[in-house]
Amino acid sequence: MLNKQLDFAKLPKHIAFIIDGNGRWAKKRGLPRSFGHKAGIVTCKSTIVECLNLGIKYVSIYGFSTENWNRPKDEIETLFNLFREFIKNDLQEVLKEDVKFIVSGDYKAFPNDLVETIEECLNKTKNNSKMILNLCINYGGRPEIVRAVNNIIKDGIKSVDEKIISSYLYTSSIPDPDFIVRTSGENRISNFMLWQASYAEFYFPKTYWPDFHKKELYKALKVYSKRNRRFGAIKENK
Ligand code: IPE
Ligand code: IPE
Ligand code: MG
Repeated sequence: MLNKQLDFAKLPKHIAFIIDGNGRWAKKRGLPRSFGHKAGIVTCKSTIVECLNLGIKYVSIYGFSTENWNRPKDEIETLFNLFREFIKNDLQEVLKEDVKFIVSGDYKAFPNDLVETIEECLNKTKNNSKMILNLCINYGGRPEIVRAVNNIIKDGIKSVDEKIISSYLYTSSIPDPDFIVRTSGENRISNFMLWQASYAEFYFPKTYWPDFHKKELYKALKVYSKRNRRFGAIKENK
């Protein structure tokens, strides 16, 4: 039924999710924030599976920002535990479907065993190609640009163009996002893909991330399919 409403010719190649609202989802139910994060992980998995079924080639998920270190220690630990579980368990089933796992962000700042889990997963899936799943953790758009500039200097490059800068970002192997979805009704990008988002379409549903089920995803994709992307040129509305 839902499939019928979608224009498959107009799906984004790269969809990115700023998964927001886990805490408020839990609060609304009188539950601790950690329950919201747990529920959010379930939505991450189901959303990835749906995107895979739809043939979307690139999916980014913003799971931990460089600013999220400002949260209480126990919440950060809960998130690390959930990332561990997510990568070790939930993701394994998905990755078997020829999905390549990549990470944007300085994941090496995480606890050693989490770094190991991440690296195992990166290695194990490096030759997969049906879909690329880009998990953005300890990621910030500004630190990413600073890191790129420092590496460019280190490599002795004296003058840059856009291609060179793009090639030094975490996302060098994937195209820019076509569609950025931020749940929970906040209308901001919170340091997400500042360079890459230059021509992305944005969508800010009010739904909290744990409630972002298949129906919501399809609604978002329907909205995207109706957008008229002009890239500065003149195109008739179709
Ligand atoms: C998003 O949910 C998850 C992360 C940022 C890790 P929040 O934890 O930001 O939930 P709210 O915004 O407090 O509701
Ligand atoms: C953005 O959510 C970061 C992630 C989803 C990982 P936040 O909840 O951290 O963002 P702000 O603080 O509301 O801008
Ligand atoms: Mg939030």
